[in-house]
Amino acid sequence: MTRGSLRMRFSLAVLAWIIGGLIVVGVGTSALFTRHIESRFHAELQQHLLELAELTIVSPDGSPRLERPLSDPRYAVPDSGFYWQVDRHGFPPLRSPSVTKGGLDTALAHQPDIFHRPANGPTGVAMTYGFTRPIADGSGYLHYLIATDQRHLDDVTKAFEAELIGWLSLLALALLATGGLVILYTLKPLNRLAGTVAAVRSGSARRMGGKWPSEITPLVHDLDGLLQANEEMVSRARLEAGNLAHGLRTSLAILTDEAETLAKGPAGESAITLLDQCRQIERQLDWHLARARAKASFGGPGTEMPDALLPIIAAMRRLHQARTVHFEVTGGPPATLAIDSRDFAEIVSNLADNAGKWATSLINIGWHTQDGGLCLVFTDDGPGIPADEIARAFAPGQRLDENIMGNGLGLAIAQDLARLAGGEVRLSARVDGSKGLVATCILPIKSA
Ligand SMILES: Nc1ncnc2c1ncn2[C@@H]1O[C@H](COP(=O)(O)OP(=O)(O)OP(=O)(O)O)[C@@H](O)[C@H]1O
Ligand SMILES: [Mg+2]
Repeated sequence: MTRGSLRMRFSLAVLAWIIGGLIVVGVGTSALFTRHIESRFHAELQQHLLELAELTIVSPDGSPRLERPLSDPRYAVPDSGFYWQVDRHGFPPLRSPSVTKGGLDTALAHQPDIFHRPANGPTGVAMTYGFTRPIADGSGYLHYLIATDQRHLDDVTKAFEAELIGWLSLLALALLATGGLVILYTLKPLNRLAGTVAAVRSGSARRMGGKWPSEITPLVHDLDGLLQANEEMVSRARLEAGNLAHGLRTSLAILTDEAETLAKGPAGESAITLLDQCRQIERQLDWHLARARAKASFGGPGTEMPDALLPIIAAMRRLHQARTVHFEVTGGPPATLAIDSRDFAEIVSNLADNAGKWATSLINIGWHTQDGGLCLVFTDDGPGIPADEIARAFAPGQRLDENIMGNGLGLAIAQDLARLAGGEVRLSARVDGSKGLVATCILPIKSA
């Protein structure tokens, strides 16, 4: 996942959505629950306050007392956090058995309507309710107070929040996992797209084709259109190159013929230069034609080894028979190569021709498979090429040995065509240290 990739963008969006959503859900749920619990507490305490007022009677001596204890037993447990108190001016306050120290703030019970607020109680901050009522005989007022420690409310909300956080964390994990699966699922066509584009690039597929999601289909159609236009352009260019070469070749043949005739006459020197130039033009034409053809021949039927090789070697034997060099074919396993047969012929004839030109007496040709490719090895017993000159030998137009006829294009053509097919030509000294050159051509084997 790289920065700025679609996968990264989706992941960040999903993460922000899940975290943001869960925070809103968590805060909202907690607030809702606290409000609900508080309102239940309040209703309950107001009920207790009214019950307290109902049960309070005034003794003959004027002091307040309760007819019977409150129905909630928690007011009888010392320091339970549930307290009540009844005050009458001039009398000691009447308090629940739960109050063991201190008391409730009577200032909160000086109004006829029930009023509540947090206030200091016997065991910490307590939600305190209070109101006052006149005594029936009009002799004064009774002030009623009920209080519950705030911690009771806080404990309930804290326990709820702890449980809520646990559940929300589980939900976050589940959402992240499903989010990841959703991203994988939705991006799958893009992975397939990348794979198909790579296949088209490598030449194993000619078109994108296939069924795609509606958002990608226009892109694939456009891409296929582009490939089609490209292919047409290449084959048109190839045809034009072929036509041009044909036209030039005919004129070139006439020129060469004329130069050959002239060479026998008095202007021999100039005619030889002319002939040389004609051969060079012919070679250049070969090279450019081979390149144009190779680029357009991707995905062809391939080349059979050794069937395609043997006739070329036979032709090379005839071409170099004047030098009395021996072409020996040691052989190797049969294979179908992923290269156009004309390109194969071009590569092999250039390597075999070089061996034929520079060998002293023997040329060996053998092949073996290696890493899904075929290594075709030409070994000669000629002067060889020093290791530091090998790169120069591949450069177009470079000849290391001016004594032997040539244009310095053979290795450049062979290397070009081999690379276009996904292979390579390598030159090296002989492993046994003896005089000569080893030219190895590695070509891909066609997969079944
Ligand atoms: N088997 C070999 N032994 C020794 N030198 C070689 C061999 N093959 C190539 N060379 C050297 O590398 C140079 C480049 O080879 P390349 O095939 O490109 O050109 P060329 O054979 O001279 O001309 P062309 O192939 O265009 O007719 C040659 O001029 C030669 O000096
Ligand atoms: Mg050559």
